[in-house]
Amino acid sequence: MNAIDREKLIQAAFESLKNSYAPYSCFNVAAAVLTDSGKIYTGVNVENASYPCGICAERNAIFHAAACGERKIIACAVVGGKNGEVTDYCPPCGVCRQVMREFCEPEKMTVVLAKSTDDYKEMTLAQLLPESFGPENL
Ligand code: THU
Repeated sequence: MNAIDREKLIQAAFESLKNSYAPYSCFNVAAAVLTDSGKIYTGVNVENASYPCGICAERNAIFHAAACGERKIIACAVVGGKNGEVTDYCPPCGVCRQVMREFCEPEKMTVVLAKSTDDYKEMTLAQLLPESFGPENL
């Protein structure tokens, strides 16, 4: 992805990190997805007193986009860390990888794991989720 889009996406993720609700794990995560309409949608992890009811930042961002009518994701940036301090890369969990799979072309979709706007790792969803099962398989 181009440098401007990447920077905007990482920035959007960092801006929403303050909204993460993670009183149980104290591990705050935020994600921002860029769709084919050019818009950016953010999401954060939202935990629950009944632990399994919580949801990851990536899925919240993707469902946010889908709820606004979007159906194609071009890229997703993820930031996160203990007590909101981003000291390492935060890779998406397996469930979130599968949810990303629904709305993208895995070989083309970019996943950006960022520590800052100029310290990041970039990969495709196909690299994170090889031999995946998607809508075309049904
Ligand atoms: N979490 C995310 O939001 N995204 C990830 O990719 C990994 C984990 C959240 C879930 C939970 O609220 C907290 O981080 C600790 O697992």
